[in-house]
Amino acid sequence: MYDYFLGGRDNFAADRELAEQVLQVAPNARTTARANRSFLVRATEAMAQAGIRQFVDLGTGVPTSPNVHEVAQQIDPDARVAYVDNDPIVLVHARALLSGIRSDVITIDGDLRDPKGILDHPKLGAHIDFAQPVAVLLVAVLHLLTDADGPERLVETIRDRMAPGSHLILSHLWDDPDGVARAGADKYARRKASAPVVPRTMEQIQRFFDGFELIEPGLVYLDQWRPTEGMINAGADDRFGVCAVGRKA
Ligand SMILES: C[S@@+](CC[C@H](N)C(=O)[O-])C[C@H]1O[C@@H](n2cnc3c(N)ncnc32)[C@H](O)[C@@H]1O
Repeated sequence: MYDYFLGGRDNFAADRELAEQVLQVAPNARTTARANRSFLVRATEAMAQAGIRQFVDLGTGVPTSPNVHEVAQQIDPDARVAYVDNDPIVLVHARALLSGIRSDVITIDGDLRDPKGILDHPKLGAHIDFAQPVAVLLVAVLHLLTDADGPERLVETIRDRMAPGSHLILSHLWDDPDGVARAGADKYARRKASAPVVPRTMEQIQRFFDGFELIEPGLVYLDQWRPTEGMINAGADDRFGVCAVGRKA
């Protein structure tokens, strides 16, 4: 569905049908998805410019160019990237389009509800040195985990493994006061989509950054994070996604 919102071609009739129902109650879903992807690119670029050379992209999604390794390797061709997802279709595409290309990019089948399983995965350990700074991306993915799935435990487990100077790049669907995000989420619940959608309040999203210092400009709407000229701008009527980057001291 996210691929459909982004205008991609790697989606099925069932995805398109449910996505159209979401668009009826949340007509901004397309611009929100694009603004989210644009944040992912700007934040990855900022991390690479700050000297980070290792990236772990949790909940990668169907490959969408520019992907994390394309952005990071433009700044340092030796940057290493690990893509992690649990969706078999995403994994097939990622293996074909991302990790098939070069040895400094790998794809791992991992479930975010089992953070230790991901962090202790031998392929990840051989590829990423957690004794050195790393950027971990949790972009548009924590709202696919319910509170019972343990999103806070996931972030804590990752934080405890990170070396000082590491960063967490995170975006999340905001539980807007008009209830638009909830109305969209309700469509997923009714159709029993493979993952539920759980919009959260600013306070709940801020809590994911416990133990991190937010770098400038803090927790903001997607298009307010270090905007660049010509970037995809969600616009003032699109306030459904929020994002931040936190640094582990
Ligand atoms: C909305 S997409 C976001 C893709 C990308 N991070 C972005 O922002 O452009 C969410 C991705 O998270 C993955 N995902 C959802 N629940 C997951 C879980 N429990 N473990 C691993 N991946 C998961 C989905 O398969 C999907 O590919």
